[in-house]
This record gives sequence, structure tokens and C-alpha cells, in this order.
Amino acid sequence: MLSPRPKHLAVQATGRPAGAIGVFDSGVGGLSVLKALRAELPHERFVYVADSGHAPYGERDDVHVVTRSHAITRHLVTQHHIKALVVACNTATAAAIQALRQSYPDLPIIGIEPALKPAAAASQTHLIGVMATRGTLNSEKFRNLLESLRSQTTFVLQPCDGLADAIEHADATKIEAACAYYTGAMGRFGLNSDEMDTLVLGCTHYPFAENTLRNLVGANVAFLEGGAPVARQTRRLLAAHHQLAEINSTNLPLADSSDFFTTGSADILHQAAQRWLQLQVHVRTLTIES
Ligand code: DGL
Repeated sequence: MLSPRPKHLAVQATGRPAGAIGVFDSGVGGLSVLKALRAELPHERFVYVADSGHAPYGERDDVHVVTRSHAITRHLVTQHHIKALVVACNTATAAAIQALRQSYPDLPIIGIEPALKPAAAASQTHLIGVMATRGTLNSEKFRNLLESLRSQTTFVLQPCDGLADAIEHADATKIEAACAYYTGAMGRFGLNSDEMDTLVLGCTHYPFAENTLRNLVGANVAFLEGGAPVARQTRRLLAAHHQLAEINSTNLPLADSSDFFTTGSADILHQAAQRWLQLQVHVRTLTIES
């Protein structure tokens, strides 16, 4: 008779427990990507690391972001034996994904970037607002992306210092004030030819301010974020590496299959997972040396 296996472990065709997918962000923002990943890949296990003790990334220099990205990836590879990595942070993707891919050539690594291409394809007014961190907007990766699309469209770029931090701490007053200030500075939103009809949320924290932003820019403006495309790309890459978790009759969607770690406050990540993913999770705090 087969011995019972823990219900939180997906099983590969070999009968061995499948490796987890590592996901990290500077804090709770990556939960917006994890949400899409769990919807797209319900049979996978995830290990989420919030580097809240070293956040925000978006207002720090590249050396800090690259060093932290390496430290977290090393931790996920050596301690959790991850089979793939999702960099659920636009700032870390822009600064570090190339270096990470060089250091881990056999590890599938998926990053996230502001959804400029889909925005350019969708916009009717060809005027698009982009909210992101200073680090993302100043990066070479972003500049190259922008350059490739600039002929078709005008992008209004808005660095949003303090907004990720306000979202991290669920500070409603600061979120409201920052969103009002930044959308006001960007110009007019709407469907008229001289208005921005599309708003790119180029930081994984910002989808959690969507209601506030919606009240400010109006119902007709399209919001674009990168969670769902990243989840689809993760599926494609896992399939190409023959690493998708096997699905069988005992391997039901893994409702409690994610592990949560933070280098900052466990309470903040616990509450964010509850609020945004409707998950009651046990969060462990850890130190990851740079
Ligand atoms: N969530 C991160 C991003 O997508 C940035 C937040 C921060 O500044 O730490 O860019």
C-alpha cells in the first residue's frame, strides 16, 4: 500500500516531491504577482520572500538592489532547492536579472517589466501614463524598452517616491496623498485625444492601490500590470524545461502550498496576504546576509 504523502506536496512523474518556485520582491508588492501565479499554476508550490528589511528598492542604488537580489536567490537555491525563480519586482528585474541569469544559467528565471508594449497596443489616444519607481524608470533596461516604442506613443513617466512604502505599511492616508499628488502631476486622464487613456502600474506594489487610483483617474482609463503575463511566461518556461508539476487525481489545487518568509515584519506580510490573497499564512522571519 502507498504511504500517505503530505497534501501540500505536488508529486512529479518520478514520485519525488516537485521543487518549489521561488518568488521575491522588496516587500509585499510581489503578492500581486504571486496571486496571478497561483491562479495560473494552481498545482505548484511557491516560496515567497519579502525583503522588507532592506526596502524600498526603488529609491536605493543599483548596487544595493543587485546585492540583495543575489543574496535572496542564493538563499532560495541553497535552502529551498527551487526549480525556477520569479523576480516579482520591476526594480530588481531592471537592475539584476541579467546578472542573476549569468550566475544561474540552468535556473529558469522570469522577471517583470512595466507593461509598455500591451499599453501601446491598446491605447486609442496614444498617450499613456507610467507609474513606477525611480530605479525602474532610470534603468537602462527600461530606457531601451521605451526607446523601442516611442515613435508610436507618448509615455508620461512618473517616479512615485514613497508610494510603495505607503502601500507596504498599508497607510491609507499616505497612499491617498501620494496617488493624488502623482496622478495630478501627470496630467489629464480620459478618452479625449489629449488625455491618457491607459495607466501602466510599473511597480508590483501599485495594484494594491488600484481602488484609490481608479477614483482619481476615472472609470474609463485602462490599468495595465504585469502579474498575469509573468504567470503565463512562467508556465511556458516550466513546460519548456519539463518542470511543470504533474497533475493527478490526488494532486488537487494546492490551496495551502506557499511558504512565506520576510526579512522585515511578519505581521505586515501576514496581513497583506490576508487582505489581498485571502490567505491565512504563517510567516517566518529570517536574516539573509548580503
Ligand atoms: N515592488 C517593487 C517594484 O516592482 C518596488 C518597491 C520598492 O521600491 O521597494 O518595483
